[in-house]
Amino acid sequence: MSDDRTDRTDRTQHTESTAPLDLGAFPAGFSWGTATSAYQIEGAVAEDGRAPSIWDTYTRVPGAIDNGDDGDTACDHYHRWPEDVALMRELGTDAYRLSISWPRVLPEGDGPVNTAGLDFYDRLVDGLLAAGIDPSVTLYHWDLPQALQDRTADSRGGWTERATAEHFARYASVVGARLGDRVTRWATLNEPLCSAWIGHLEGRMAPGWTDLTAAVRASYHLLLAHGLGASALRAAAPGAQVGLVTNHSTFEPASSRPEDLAAAVRADGHGNRWWLDPVYGRGFPSDLRELYERHGAALPERPGDAGTVAAPLDWHGLNYYFPVTVADDPTGPVPHAREVRLPDVPRTGMDWQIDAGGLESLLLRLTEDYGAQRLYVTENGSAFPDTVGPDGRIDDPERARYLEAHLAACARALRKGAPLAGYYAWSLLDNFEWAYGYDKRFGLVHVDYATQRRTVKASGRRYAELIRAHRAQAG
Ligand code: IFM
Repeated sequence: MSDDRTDRTDRTQHTESTAPLDLGAFPAGFSWGTATSAYQIEGAVAEDGRAPSIWDTYTRVPGAIDNGDDGDTACDHYHRWPEDVALMRELGTDAYRLSISWPRVLPEGDGPVNTAGLDFYDRLVDGLLAAGIDPSVTLYHWDLPQALQDRTADSRGGWTERATAEHFARYASVVGARLGDRVTRWATLNEPLCSAWIGHLEGRMAPGWTDLTAAVRASYHLLLAHGLGASALRAAAPGAQVGLVTNHSTFEPASSRPEDLAAAVRADGHGNRWWLDPVYGRGFPSDLRELYERHGAALPERPGDAGTVAAPLDWHGLNYYFPVTVADDPTGPVPHAREVRLPDVPRTGMDWQIDAGGLESLLLRLTEDYGAQRLYVTENGSAFPDTVGPDGRIDDPERARYLEAHLAACARALRKGAPLAGYYAWSLLDNFEWAYGYDKRFGLVHVDYATQRRTVKASGRRYAELIRAHRAQAG
């Protein structure tokens, strides 16, 4: 059972170890990578035919983004990508996870293809391959073309509309046809939970709504888009290895009170099972479906969709950052589980609790409960307030410790049988951290936004050292 609490709790009983990293657990050929996403780094939002996305719109909403930041320039990666590929080589990584900006390729969401937009990714992919770096392409990392949001008279279209999933499939086939001769590893979506729940229910990401009905519809159409996109990609790019990237946390009850235990099961359903069960052929979990329906939010199901959503995955990408502790909150928002802030636990600069055991636990759950055949950690990393030393160096021991603790969790999961094939550190560069703007820095490489100067941090050098040591050992 995917919601077996006792089992999950046992798996998270880990203390951080000070033992040297067990590099022998990582197989030869393990992919060492970094990850980014289009809106967070590219900038050039009005260049070469790109049209606005829902994030261009959302960043204009007063008060939505810390400091009023936006992605207009970001890391200027659109122009500086050769320098960024050179940084990947300096780190010694062999893989890079990037996302494509849908409104750069299809400015209207559907309609005419913007060849100049596709050309950019063509050059980038060629540049990566020339540098010996394997590109892993995610098609959707939250930057929906605004034109699709505006398809309804009240601008409340977007993922609440089934047509958006169909447009996504066409977009997948356009990109697959252009890059599929060189890109093998594809992800349809990144973290659909954030698009649906944070964007449509919690109102902290684009489009910024607090509407359960819209959120449940969006969750359905996102998973449908994944299924339709997967088969469109496979048709356009024979040989494509198609996966999905989902983000998860472990959900622990704040106490042993039955109400808190039930709240943890609900929170786990909302955050984990809702996104995994349908993809692994189990359908949407009935406890959550009933809960949402009680609040008036029904799934817009059609016959045949369940099979589309459950299209076999070639691989699954797990994004993991933090564990969550919850208490019952009967009058609070769905799923009636309030996050409890534990005192005296280590935290990152995002105020996220640090617990690498959660990563091990989730890798094992995907392996044992869901039968995942090939796994990647597609994101994992930490933001801390960095200071640039007088010598220009950035010494960030906390980020390096976070990295090593989570790699140790990967090693333990590998030893216990998780089919983990790669790890992508989030992120290559400091970048636009959505509603937090530029203040939260996740990069292994520091970006001075005034000059766009890049500097590898000590954590980046540590990652490079570990990669070299693994290669020397694995041969
Ligand atoms: O920056 C984000 C990324 O876009 C998606 N996953 C979580 C990261 C850190 O918040």
